[in-house]
Amino acid sequence: MSQENIRNFCIIAHIDHGKSTLADRLLELTKTVEERKMKDQLLDQMDIERERGITIKLQPVKMEYKVKSQETLDFIPYTLNLIDTPGHVDFSYEVSRSLAAVEGAVLLIDATQGIQAQTLANLYLAIEQDLVIIPVINKIDMPNAMVNKTSKEISDLIGIEEKEIIKISAKTGENVSEVLKEIIEKIPSPHGDIKKPARALVFDSYFDSYKGVVAQVRIVDGVINKNNEIYFLSSKTKSEIIELGIMKPQLEKTDSLEAGDIGYIATGLKEVDKCRVGDTITRLKVESKKSKVDEENIIENKIEALPGYKEVRSTVFASIYPVEGNDYPELKDALEKLKLNDAALFFEPESSSALGRGFRCGFLGMLHMEIISERLSREYNMNLVITTPSVSYQIRKRDGKELTIFSPAEMPDPGMIEKIKEPWVKLEIVLPKDKMGSVMKLAESSRTIYKKTDYLSQDRVILEYEAPLINIIVDFYDNLKSVSSGFASMNYEFIEFKEWDLVKLDILVAGEKVEAFSRIVPRDEGYSEGKKVVAKLKNIIPRQNFAVALQATISGKIVARETIRPFRKDVTAKLYGGDVSRKRKLLEKQKKGKKKMKSFGKVEIPQEAFLSVLKK
Ligand code: GTP
Repeated sequence: MSQENIRNFCIIAHIDHGKSTLADRLLELTKTVEERKMKDQLLDQMDIERERGITIKLQPVKMEYKVKSQETLDFIPYTLNLIDTPGHVDFSYEVSRSLAAVEGAVLLIDATQGIQAQTLANLYLAIEQDLVIIPVINKIDMPNAMVNKTSKEISDLIGIEEKEIIKISAKTGENVSEVLKEIIEKIPSPHGDIKKPARALVFDSYFDSYKGVVAQVRIVDGVINKNNEIYFLSSKTKSEIIELGIMKPQLEKTDSLEAGDIGYIATGLKEVDKCRVGDTITRLKVESKKSKVDEENIIENKIEALPGYKEVRSTVFASIYPVEGNDYPELKDALEKLKLNDAALFFEPESSSALGRGFRCGFLGMLHMEIISERLSREYNMNLVITTPSVSYQIRKRDGKELTIFSPAEMPDPGMIEKIKEPWVKLEIVLPKDKMGSVMKLAESSRTIYKKTDYLSQDRVILEYEAPLINIIVDFYDNLKSVSSGFASMNYEFIEFKEWDLVKLDILVAGEKVEAFSRIVPRDEGYSEGKKVVAKLKNIIPRQNFAVALQATISGKIVARETIRPFRKDVTAKLYGGDVSRKRKLLEKQKKGKKKMKSFGKVEIPQEAFLSVLKK
């Protein structure tokens, strides 16, 4: 098909505003999926996605649609390539990758919610990419839909007339065909040069045990045929093509992919590293198959790589250990497999005296961490302990050496530290004006720095703060939802590492330091945090037959203390009345026994205690 009749687009939205549901309707209208095979949220293919009703991975799909020409009254066929994207902030990397592969975006806004934090964040990403934006208000069938108000907000935000905004119900299908019409009319067709040497942008990749690494690509220039050899410009890897084709959304083989197309190339490669997202694929000259010439020569001309993507940055780190020590090899295997389809997952081996052998892992956020751990236990049957999530810290030591640590346990002795920096984010909160008081109070209690307030409309505002990442990732979102009765939403992005007066808070159980309980806290919060942790532990660690001291310390100084009382075998119970001196003797004996246990015995901390105390 000529590029003129191709439209490549994404649907972007705040979480739950209806992207997957709209995608379902588009698939139906274009008859891409047979009616009997249609199911809700068809593009959410993972079990977790379907159960939780969230999209985690981007998903491309090719649709065909015919439109009657006003002039000739003929039906003109169009190819519509949709990339469905996730809405949660942890996966905004997936969104920005998708946006680089298309020319337009449908911005979907829930009429019962109005503009929310990820609506803004995703809109800005689309504007940065110079995409044409088609604003659509969804859920107009709901009784509490605020169509006019939402329409006014959008018109003010994007600077378009309200009548240009399409109002739909993705659920009932009302007006959805209007969206298709607008996509065809407003989104520009791709304009790559089909005669130029082939260049394809890899916007996603995954591993298939039969086809090897499969790259999902947008062909920018030229043509790639199924019997070409290809070359990855940045990983400098040569590969054959096992097969290539399009996603409907299931794979469908074709003979070639041309400028403007979105499709897949199965490479047979075994290492996902060789096919990184953001890399540019080009084709090798046919003659190169037999001759042994150097790389410069075998590539058709000298080809400039496409802009590519920023590296993903892990923001949250936690260690994962198998509950059963001998499950370590299985855990390693499972992580390696997950990594093949999730480039953002980072892990490396680690060991701890308390927990044995495991892995330090890096995630895009708490939801990403939750999903990985859930997939490990569901898809790989792993029984796991996950330590307290932490951010990374940059430390400058007095001897001039610099290091980055990923858990409190790695923190050097306080005497050796000159300064310590922690990651800070720009935090945007969208909320109704009448919730400002309580939301600002919450923000103030989280070490934030207030920047500004913008008005979205008369009664909705955007608050902007700078905040330490550690205070945002754990339970800020839950607290925000609760102080705003569910009406506020937030988005954050990393800005810089900032210096702060931070100290390590250690927890001693029966006199022994338990590293897994350590955390890094601001010096002025050390005391209150210490108190909180020992109080929590007191309720979680079961009683032993000796008294267990729980102490919180900072630089070796005790800041809080609790005691878990022992079981008391009442050895004197039978000696009612009777001889007081005998009774005392027995109690003395028991005390001695206790002392013995205390000095030799070690407190057994149940595995769940690590987990439950670490959960906020
Ligand atoms: P994420 O992928 O998690 O970001 O969500 P999403 O944007 O894909 O939203 P999804 O399509 O999963 O819809 C969220 C919820 O809203 C689901 O329960 C849908 O059934 C419902 N929903 C979507 N569109 C409409 C609509 O037009 N009307 C009504 N009443 N409900 C809708």
